[in-house]
Order: sequence, then structure tokens, then C-alpha cells
Amino acid sequence: MKNIFPGGLIERILKKTGTPVYIYSSEKILENLEAYKRSFSDLNPLFCYAMKANSNGAVARLLAQNGAGADVVSGGELHRALCAGFDPRTIIFSGVGKTDEEMSYALRAGILFINVESFEELKALERVAARLKMRAEVSVRINPDIDPHTHKFITTGKIGTKFGVAFKEARELYAFAHASRHLAPVGIHFHLGSQIDSPKPYEKALVVVAKFIRRLGTDGIKLKYLDIGGGWGVREGFDMLPPALLAGTVGPLVESLGLALILEPGRSLVAAAGALAVKTLYRKKSGLKNYIITDGAMNDLIRPAFYGAKHPVRPLVKRPGKAARFDIAGPVCESGDFLAQDVSLPTPSRGDILLILSAGAYGFSMSSQYNSRPRAAEVLLTGTNSWRLIRERETYQDLTAKEK
Ligand SMILES: Cc1ncc(COP(=O)(O)O)c(C=O)c1O
Repeated sequence: MKNIFPGGLIERILKKTGTPVYIYSSEKILENLEAYKRSFSDLNPLFCYAMKANSNGAVARLLAQNGAGADVVSGGELHRALCAGFDPRTIIFSGVGKTDEEMSYALRAGILFINVESFEELKALERVAARLKMRAEVSVRINPDIDPHTHKFITTGKIGTKFGVAFKEARELYAFAHASRHLAPVGIHFHLGSQIDSPKPYEKALVVVAKFIRRLGTDGIKLKYLDIGGGWGVREGFDMLPPALLAGTVGPLVESLGLALILEPGRSLVAAAGALAVKTLYRKKSGLKNYIITDGAMNDLIRPAFYGAKHPVRPLVKRPGKAARFDIAGPVCESGDFLAQDVSLPTPSRGDILLILSAGAYGFSMSSQYNSRPRAAEVLLTGTNSWRLIRERETYQDLTAKEK
């Protein structure tokens, strides 16, 4: 993979921003979107960027300006998507627990459709739409009971998880929506999980979903949209898997259905485009273990602690000498606070910068103020030698601003 974080530029940025700071490459994000568009050009799908992966307004705006739609899972994400300039008719609203207020917001904003995940939610949506004297366009999230063979916390398409509804119940939801004056069933949705490294699970899901769509047709329910979710994998330290692999498998199955295709890529658009820059504070030993303690911690990037994610680490300056093995840990008071484990590096000097790579997705967006640590700054590289601050580092005042 090409080095998208040239040392000289990063050093200049860090002089202005300090650390920890997230740095994203706009060029890489657009390259990823283009790769999707190219691979799926025959089907011309709508790519609804899953805002949860990285919801910074500048990142979202970049994708909106280049033809992406948005997949949102909360009123807050919908607000962000509208602020970023996504056309409301390219926004879809997913998630298992939407409130009446969130559904009302989505209907008033005129989004494309709402992905419903339970019968109770569908009935609540009907009531909200009736109150607004509207007809809500809905899609049902199917749980096709397919194992995507990924981490259990990011598996969503298996029965037993909280997501979606099984086919039998889904048929009842569609019948209810079809009969309602305030609902219009327009789509069908599944999302199998994250970090899926093969098109096989999508293929398996599509085969059963296609059968179900045909059965709905015999019930007199004709859909317009087929939304196959996100989840396409990115191995840490590498580009996303070629989307042509996915397109080649799902394309023929989707074509035969004649529905407009929607995908919800999150991670694959932004993961490889981002790095978290942290500073070496201290080196220490504990028994046989060598530690590098940095000013970045699990509150900035929780993926290693949460999912066992393995982010590659690149020192900005290579120190001479033999490599040793280190755990890279932050100042947070948890043994689970690490950014990487057992990585091989020449011993850094105090003050040296480490780039934690493949951190553009579910990095900042999952960050917190745990241990009362202000959240990191964010920077967007806008050209080979240009950049801008897209979120200021939080201050101590921000920590207490909402408290009374
Ligand atoms: C409904 C839905 N769509 C899309 C995504 C994006 O998944 P990924 O970032 O793995 O592409 C998620 C992730 O949790 C999701 O829940």
C-alpha cells in the first residue's frame, strides 16, 4: 500500500496540532469510493456511507459531494448527514431502537426509507406517520441467519442477535405495511456483520432473500430497493478487499431481481485512509514485557481492546538499532488499555511519534472522554502538501461544559 502519510507533512501538521490526532487522507477515501463505483458500474447502485464509521462533517461532506448517500442509525447521525449536504432522498435510517422523535425527524426530512427491525417498531412508525399525515416508506431488515465468520461483536446476520427479523415474521410485517394507509413497503434490507472477507455470506443471503422477494411478489408486494448492507472487510494495514470480488458474486443475483441496489459501506471507505498519531511518553519494562506508554489511549481508539483489532504501527522516525517487541499502551487506568501488542520496533526515543495505521474507521467515532481525557483533534489531508483541521482538540472546559 502506498504511503499516504508522508513524514515531512505529518511532522508539520503535528507541530500545529499536537498529539493524539487523527489524520485522514481525502485522496484515499475518494479512491475507495471510486473503486466501488467502478466495480459496480453495471448495476449503478446507491452507496449509502455508514456514517457511524467516521461521522466527521468534513469526511461526510467529501463523500456527499462525490455522489454517496448516507446510512444513519440515530437522530444525531441524521442531523450530521443533513448538515454534510447529503440529499435526503439518498439517506436511509437503520438501527434496532429508533425513538418516535427520531422517526418523526426522518419522515419530516424526507429521507429515502426507514429500515425497520421489529413489528413493534413498524407499528410505532405507522403511528408517527399518521400523526404527521404522511406515508412512511419502509424496508424490513431481514435476519437471514447467515454466519459471516467474523468477530462475535460484529456479527449481526445470525438468528439470536438483536438485529432484523426472520423471514416468517418479515412476511407479516410486509403484509401489515402493505395494508396500511400510512406505510409503503419499498425495500428489503440485510446487513450481515463487519469485516467480512469473502463474498460467500452475501451470496448465501441473496439466494434466500431473492426467494423471499419472489414470494412477496406473489403476495402482491412489489419492492423497489434491495439493500445488502455494509461489512466488506479491510485487513488492518492493507487496502479494502477488491470490491470487484463482491460485485462479481452478487451482481448476477441482483440483476435477476430487477431492484435498485443499495450498499452501506462504512469501514471499507475510510479505514485505510486514517491514522492516529500518538507521542511516546515513556518506555518501561514489566517482567519480560517492554512497554511504550503513549499519550494516545483506549479512549481515543478502542478497537484493539474491544475487538482485538491489530493495527499496524509505524514510527515516524526510524531509530537505529535492533528491533524489540513492545506493547503500546496509553495512560488510561485499565489493563485493557493498549493500542497494539507485541509489535516489533527499534526502541523509540521519548517524544517519538508513532502512527497507528488503519484507524480511519470506528476510531474517533467510538472515542470517549473516559478518564476525563479530552477527545483528540482530527485533520484532513486535502492534497499532497495541504491539510486542514476538521475538529479541534477538546479542552478541559469541554469536559465539564454540560454539567450543572
Ligand atoms: C446497518 C449497518 N449498515 C452498515 C454498517 C457498516 O458496516 P461496515 O463499516 O463494516 O461496512 C453497519 C455497521 O455496523 C450497520 O450496522
